[in-house]
Amino acid sequence: MVILSKPAIEQFSYIRNKQPATALFPPLIPIVDLSKPDSKHQIIKACEEFGFFKVINHGVPMEFISRLESEATEFFSLPLSEKEKTGQPKPYGYGNKRIGPNGDVGWVEYLLLMTNQDPNLATENPESFRVALNNYMAAVKKMACEILEMVADGLKIQPRNVLSKLMMDEQSDSVFRLNHYPPCPDVLQSLNDNVIGFGEHTDPQIISVLRSNNTSGLQISLRDGSWISVPPDHHSFFINVGDSLQVMTNGRFKSVKHRVVANSAKSRLSMIYFCGPPLSEKIAPLPSLMRGDQQSLYKEFTWFEYKRSAYTSRLADNRLMHFEKIAAS
Ligand code: OGA
Ligand code: NI
Repeated sequence: MVILSKPAIEQFSYIRNKQPATALFPPLIPIVDLSKPDSKHQIIKACEEFGFFKVINHGVPMEFISRLESEATEFFSLPLSEKEKTGQPKPYGYGNKRIGPNGDVGWVEYLLLMTNQDPNLATENPESFRVALNNYMAAVKKMACEILEMVADGLKIQPRNVLSKLMMDEQSDSVFRLNHYPPCPDVLQSLNDNVIGFGEHTDPQIISVLRSNNTSGLQISLRDGSWISVPPDHHSFFINVGDSLQVMTNGRFKSVKHRVVANSAKSRLSMIYFCGPPLSEKIAPLPSLMRGDQQSLYKEFTWFEYKRSAYTSRLADNRLMHFEKIAAS
């Protein structure tokens, strides 16, 4: 449970631009059926237009999903003192309301874990949680790898593992996050509706693979700056294009801005696998995507440098801006 103190109420952030999409008929979120032969083209279109899509027929066994969901629910229902035994999120561990070290707060508690090291789950019976995490992560990693290979195919670049190999590397800096958004009490909601669960941001990695229970709250920003709600679907996954993929495609794909609005009636549980490259990897446009004398829009940097910059900025900051080349006039 998120413990509410008076100062916390005062510092809470609310959504100022509450207005959902102004369009009468906001566009529907693209759905990609991974079992269809033309899915790679749909993926490319969705990455260009939204930086976001939903996948169905994804091949991740429902049993792994529900098992992890119940383990996570059990973890978050433990007393705060138990959860805190996991250690503070520096950056890995259990966090409550504070997201990152720079003053961002949200109506959320979370566990942030490394994907290639056994998590330190200092709970009474961590073994079944660990097994559930490992099964889930292995299946989601496989699906993410297939999606990145379809991206390479769709972009007509070779070898087709040019993107997927980054997250499949043993040294890959992929991370996993479980977010729990408890129902937001009326006292907070009455001060202002639309309390922020997780403030607007883009994910810095290559892609992120999100699955949530059937509670709404996730919103994405469209190219015109308006926000639309993403109807939850607990049988499917949602893919976000991250900043690194935006850079690797030299801006052809855009990383999607997203946020979570707290829900007053139901708790939301989400699990996100962030596919990251090794720390030493240079993040730069893929040479095979550059035509003629096309120039990179970005200065050169490594994933380590980008990650450090992400960690030292606020959620809503446009981190990529510091790495953009200023067009010569
Ligand atoms: C994130 C995120 C959304 C959610 O953790 O980066 O965007 O639904 N989470 O928890
Ligand atoms: Ni995110």
